[in-house]
This record gives sequence, structure tokens and C-alpha cells, in this order.
Amino acid sequence: MSLFRTRSIDVDADTGLKRCLNAFDLTMLGIGCIIGTGIFVLTGVAAAEHAGPAIVFSFILSGLACAFAALSYAELAGAIGGAGSAYGYAYAGIGELVAWIIGWDLILEYALTTSTVAIGWSGYFGKVLELIGVHLPQALTNAPLDGGIANVPAMVIVLLLSVLLSIGVSESARFNSAMVLIKLATIAVFIAVALPHVNPANWHPFVPPAAVDAAGRSHFGYGGILTGASLIFFAYIGFDAVSTAAEETVNPQRNLPLGILGSLLICTLLYIVVSGILTGVVHYDQIDVKAPIADAMKQLGIGWAEALVSIGALAGLTTVMLVLYFGLTRVVLAMSRDGLLPKPMGKVNTKTQTPVPLILGSGVFIALIAGLFPIGKVAELVNLGTLAAFFLVCASVIVLRRTRPDLKRPFRTPAVPLVPLLGMLFCGFLMTGLPAATWQAFFIWCAVGLAIYFLYSRSRSELARQV
Ligand code: ALA
Repeated sequence: MSLFRTRSIDVDADTGLKRCLNAFDLTMLGIGCIIGTGIFVLTGVAAAEHAGPAIVFSFILSGLACAFAALSYAELAGAIGGAGSAYGYAYAGIGELVAWIIGWDLILEYALTTSTVAIGWSGYFGKVLELIGVHLPQALTNAPLDGGIANVPAMVIVLLLSVLLSIGVSESARFNSAMVLIKLATIAVFIAVALPHVNPANWHPFVPPAAVDAAGRSHFGYGGILTGASLIFFAYIGFDAVSTAAEETVNPQRNLPLGILGSLLICTLLYIVVSGILTGVVHYDQIDVKAPIADAMKQLGIGWAEALVSIGALAGLTTVMLVLYFGLTRVVLAMSRDGLLPKPMGKVNTKTQTPVPLILGSGVFIALIAGLFPIGKVAELVNLGTLAAFFLVCASVIVLRRTRPDLKRPFRTPAVPLVPLLGMLFCGFLMTGLPAATWQAFFIWCAVGLAIYFLYSRSRSELARQV
């Protein structure tokens, strides 16, 4: 039965972290984390190879899954809070084993995404340097297995962010807001410049006919909308990271739901508009799969806009890394406080009020992965881990309404159990759109997690000590 032991809830606990973030900061953190590789890079593959102009439907499908999950997140973030986010909600509602699995999934989501985005950042950094005539040597921008020594820019940016995050959360939030404004301005410029060039002929056929390539992979058709949605789900990842700032938020009961739902709403609308315009200005079979937005500007012959989009993407990817990296440290902090990971990891520096050893340790870890491994294509694995976590968050809402009807819920998910059930259904549906190899990798990750739980965490859990 110890697998189902649950921990108590204290939304306003003083955990040594600095409470200074408001609803605006949280919304900016959410947008900072959400808009990134998904729209600046993956939209290309999703439109050119899977969905065509119907990528807009893929964005809507994925957006709906996230909206249902976000409504569930908002209830639990307001009622339970805590830096552990979904891990903490499951710990309070379902029990230790499920909580551990979610926490382990979140570590996968945040650590791998930060590393992947760092690699994408390095690519855009090289592009921006080339615009001013500087060329970085191949050996210093590629992992050993890709014929280089290390991806040095990817490593350096992660280490710089680790310094910023160690200095303080309000400083990090201020930097994030500035970068988010640059990112949003870039997108606004793209919309304004590209809109007059939309040629409705490019939207025909809107749902390209299904086809099978030489390798036996199917593309387009209605199945392509699902595969596209499962892939560009990555573009939405991040609104959940807002909830890891719970212990650093003023009035978290009100501000967390606002930050989560506000940032998701803004980004969903932008995604639908941007992907619609992109396929309207460039025929889907001409879309560049590496830098689709910047390349669309190039194809239109608007050189200055291409440069601007590249710089905006660089700023955008920086904040994605910043917030995900932040989220990673907060989830690990919560897990180590609970004894499921080694306790010393959770030490908070009294001066900066941030978990400095954890930030620096995970920074080195992420930098090594980003610099030495060619993991540019792990988005699908990250998606699966995140969808699994979202699925369980929706389930937690239903379980907690039954087991803890007394809990104060400043934000209530509407139409329970319908909305969380729809969240589970949509997330489950998107999970089915992911390839078999991704599922295998995910099961290996979960098996490693379960081994650590049974060999280490279970006996060292704070709850084990209390009995
Ligand atoms: N949503 C984030 C991105 O697209 C992870 O980069």
C-alpha cells in the first residue's frame, strides 16, 4: 500500500524560495517557454511531410488537447501548488508511485527539451553570425558522432543560463520578459510582412491526398493531420512549466491559473495564424524543413525580414531553454525535498533564494548532453513523456474531486469529469500518432525510472520515515 501513500497539501508554504512573480510574469514565462522550436522549426516538417496546409487543423487538434490539460493544470496548480507541479499533484491525489512516474517524465521532458533546443539555438546562432560574415568551424558546432568535437555554442548558452538562474528568479523573469517581447515583435513582423503575399491557391489541396513513400511511411491525408498534431504538440510544451513557479508566485491561487491559461491562449492563436499564413505564402511542398519561417521570407525576397526572424528565433529559443531549465530544477527540488531524490540536491541558497547547487549541476548535465550527443530529433520522445504526464494530471483532477472534495479550489475546471476526460482522450489520441520506436524509448525510460524508485527512492521517501 505504500505505493499509494499521499502527502499533505500546503499551498502557501515558505520553502526558502523568493515569492516575487505576478500574473504578468507568469504569462511571460509561459509564452517564453511555449513559442520556440515548435513554430520556428518543426512546423516545416509537419506541413511539408505530414499535413500540408491542414497543419492548421493539426495545431487546433493539439491545441485542444493542451486546452483541456491546461484547465486541469489550472485547478491543481491553484489548489495544491508546489514547485513539483504535476508530480506534486499526483503525490497529493493518487499516490507516491504514480507521482514518481510523472516526476520522472517531467525530468525527461524538461532536460531533453532544453538540450534539444540548445542544439537548435546553436544552429540559429551560426546563421546569425554568418549574416555578419563570421563562420564557426564545423568541429566546434557538431557533436562527436556528427563529425565534430563538441557543439560549443549549445554548451555555452546553457552554462550562461545557469548563471542567470542562480542569480535570482526576479532577474531571470526580467530577462525572460525582454526576450519574449523581441520574440513576439518578430512574429508580428512576420505576420504583417507575409499576410499581403498570401496566395489562396497555395491552400489547394488543403488536405493533400494520402500517400506512402518508398520507405513505407504514410504521409498526408487525414492520418497526416494526426501525425502532424502529434509532432507539433511540441510547440505547446511549456505552459505546464509555469506551474513549477508556484512557490515563487505571489497569490499563486489566482495567478497560476491566469498565467497557465493566458499564455496558452495567446500562443494557440498565434500558431494558427502563423501556420495558416506560412502555407498561404509558400506551397507546402516548397516549405523549408529546417527554418520554415525565416526561409519563407527569403522565398518572398525580403532579406531584412529573414535576418530579423533569425534574430527573433534566437531570442525565442533562449527563453524556451531558460524556463524549461528553471522547471527542471524546481521539479527535482520538490522530489529531493520529499526524499525521492538525494536530499542535498534540494539545498536553497539563502542569499539568492535559488537552489544553486542543483542549478549548476543540472546545467553541466544538460550542457554535456547538448554538446556531445546528436539528439536534435528527440522531440517525439519528449512529446510522449509530456502527453503521459498531461494524461495523469487530467486523471488527478477527477480522482481528487472524489477523494478530497473539501480542498479549496480557487479555480475549478469546468464540467468535471467531462473536460478532464476529454483531455485524457485527446492526449491518448495524440500518443497513438507517435512512432513505435518512440514508444520503445519511452518504455526504457520508464523502466529505468521504476528501477530507481524501487531500489532507492521508496525506502528513502520522507513518508517512509514518518511511519
Ligand atoms: N514549446 C517549446 C518549443 O516549441 C518547447 O520550443
